[in-house]
Amino acid sequence: MRISGNRSDVLVVGGGIIGLVTAWRSAQRGLRTTLADPEPGGGAAQVAAGMLAAVTELHYGEQTLLGLNVASAARYPAFVAELEEASGQRTGFRACGTLSVALDADDRAHLRELHALQQRSGLQSEWLSGRECRRLEPMLAPGVRGGLRADGDHQVDPRRLASALVTACERAGVVFHRAWVRRLSVVNGRAAGGVLADGTELGAGQVVLAGGSLSGRLEGLPEAVVPPVRPVKGQVLRLTVPRAYAPFLSRTVRAVVRGSHVYLVPRADGELVVGATSEEQGWDTTVTAGGVYELLRDAHELVPGITELPLTETRAGLRPASPDNAPLLGPTALPGLHLATGHHRNGVLLTPVTGDVMGHVLATGELPEVARPFASHRFGRPPAAPSHDAVRAPVSQEQPA
Ligand code: GLY
Repeated sequence: MRISGNRSDVLVVGGGIIGLVTAWRSAQRGLRTTLADPEPGGGAAQVAAGMLAAVTELHYGEQTLLGLNVASAARYPAFVAELEEASGQRTGFRACGTLSVALDADDRAHLRELHALQQRSGLQSEWLSGRECRRLEPMLAPGVRGGLRADGDHQVDPRRLASALVTACERAGVVFHRAWVRRLSVVNGRAAGGVLADGTELGAGQVVLAGGSLSGRLEGLPEAVVPPVRPVKGQVLRLTVPRAYAPFLSRTVRAVVRGSHVYLVPRADGELVVGATSEEQGWDTTVTAGGVYELLRDAHELVPGITELPLTETRAGLRPASPDNAPLLGPTALPGLHLATGHHRNGVLLTPVTGDVMGHVLATGELPEVARPFASHRFGRPPAAPSHDAVRAPVSQEQPA
């Protein structure tokens, strides 16, 4: 077994955007931070469309989550400005707004209900007639029956976001290990680091499990703290809008077509992202003919001109879903172990607030008010009372149990 000379205050297991933002904020707080992932910046962010859709993705029964989504959406402009400054890279953030449209009477009724729920929830959206929708977005199908304009639902490019976070972490002094953590180390009833696939041991005062849909599979996790996350597959298409066709769409356009959500997210650089299926298929990431067909069929009903565009990429990713579709944040019943996972459909949207929450809890031992409804232990045993000593405890030299 190789013993790493690098012992840290915080080990982040998983380098998707949630693990990266946690590591960045942790390092900014002066904590010696290590992150382990074979491909930092990979994972679901490489597939996600990057909608920041607190208003248009509101679902019944998710009003508590809405508070966190709105808080994170409000942080986005300052977050990307800070990240772009820290990394010297652009994130593709666009304050473009979103239009949700209805194609038939059933869709229209569904959208009217959503509008009423948005209004009861204090959210800003405006009902438009079909004609008004087409005036805003002339490529929409002539049959559009009405729509909801949400000028506060923007977008970011998750691939650029992930890349900028890797660079910001490197510049903030985060140490990267490009390998899987195979096993959690537990010493004297406390999380004490992790063991990489090649046997290298990484010691840490605190461990953050940010492994997305794989979070529950880490070996060595005591039963009581295994996060209840499962993968929900999403197939996504990428097309390119030739310059001659621009502007094809000026904002994100979405709809529910025969019960399935479809969205078209136009980037400033000409990429057009079309998503997404929602499938409970375990860890399968196969792109299927049926998935591509359904997305193109629904997108074509919404925007017929889409069939003229080059199809440049098809890909599937896994959303890490929790039982209540909300993230699991902060301390667990195992002292020293935190979770930052379970973000399901909202990982990109929740990146800024997750970073702030995790930075705070790692540095102080306290979960901030905004994150209390999303405490890691809400489906299991509560954590032991935090001791401030534990926050900066010297890393144990002992071998894992
Ligand atoms: N938030 C978009 C999706 O999960 O497909």
